[in-house]
Amino acid sequence: MPESVDPRDLLLQTFGPGGESWLVYSPGRVNLIGEHIDYHSLPVFPIAMRRRILAAFRARADNRIRAVSAGPYGVREFEWTPGLEPVGAGDWENYLRAAAETVRRKWGTGRGVDAAVVSDLPPAAGLSSSSALLVAFTLGLLRANNHLAVFEELMEVLPDGEQFVGTRGGGMDHAAVLGSRKGCASLIGFDPLSIRAVPAPNDWAFLVAHSLTTAEKSGAARELYNSRRVAGSVALKRLGYPSYKAVVENHTPEEMEALAAERLPTIEEQDSFRHVTGEALRVGAAVGALERGDAEQFGRLLVASHASLRDKLKISSPALDELVDAALASGATGARLTGGGFGGCTVVFCLKRDLPSVREELIRRFYASRPEFDERAHLIAGEPGPGALYAEA
Ligand code: GLA
Repeated sequence: MPESVDPRDLLLQTFGPGGESWLVYSPGRVNLIGEHIDYHSLPVFPIAMRRRILAAFRARADNRIRAVSAGPYGVREFEWTPGLEPVGAGDWENYLRAAAETVRRKWGTGRGVDAAVVSDLPPAAGLSSSSALLVAFTLGLLRANNHLAVFEELMEVLPDGEQFVGTRGGGMDHAAVLGSRKGCASLIGFDPLSIRAVPAPNDWAFLVAHSLTTAEKSGAARELYNSRRVAGSVALKRLGYPSYKAVVENHTPEEMEALAAERLPTIEEQDSFRHVTGEALRVGAAVGALERGDAEQFGRLLVASHASLRDKLKISSPALDELVDAALASGATGARLTGGGFGGCTVVFCLKRDLPSVREELIRRFYASRPEFDERAHLIAGEPGPGALYAEA
């Protein structure tokens, strides 16, 4: 990965000399727990990573947006006009267009930019490289036009911006990418929007382990992802509650199980409802465990979350399951798939003192027999870093 390239050099090499440039730092995120519930407006608990997109920007006098990305992605160029439409599926220009359209909807169109992007964040790994790109360009265009935007204003528009690219996700990724604090996990609520930094215990470690299979957001995984959202929403509507929050706050786990078993007609709806409500309870418990420094309890909750995603929501895959099992057999205190599922990464949790042995054993058990394994790209330290609003680029 071309992370050693300075984006300012790339900007100069590609587009020649120009006016003042500035950098935007936009990290990836790893969700610790609270999977497939942000779009039902339930709280989630991610961290921002130290891996990031770094973009250099320069304002232009006209409305063109030109961007280059290091590596195989190449140069893209278009005019920033109202009502931009996506280009071909899977093209990175879509994220630039999404950012332009996102800014346009709240602040209007304005001056374009020349931009250069470098990244050490693996794409399609469930680490929000796409949201990091969307956030980076949104912040770049805002600054080029002298707009100052705070977290709440950005969160009004960014999740919808992502839908421009096709996934009906929730707001977790943008909130974590923007608003995380160094050394902390972020408890993110959506009803109403809130973000609370919860310091992670110093002796805890997270390792992001790639399953060596990817989930392309623009491909089949998108339909599968969206279908889970629909099933959960249909179940809620059938039961007649205004929100999942109302369900979780007003019922015991036994009552929620009775609602699922007695009033929902299909296994798909029942299990979606069970996953969403169960995961909401696990998030609350995990925040408490992290605050108390109760690693055993936190680990158990991660394992339970994975089981629910595998057996109830059915968004895991053989590779993800094998990797989680290998991590636990390697001495991890907890492990689960992270992100949208169907491939991508797992988050592995252990005490810092156990990290070297867990890592070594995980390589032996899972990666050693897989020639495509590249340690730098596939086993990433999940140290909680700052979000785009708090990072020094
Ligand atoms: C993707 C979406 C998020 C969230 C996760 C699953 O990453 O972008 O909003 O729904 O999947 O938790």
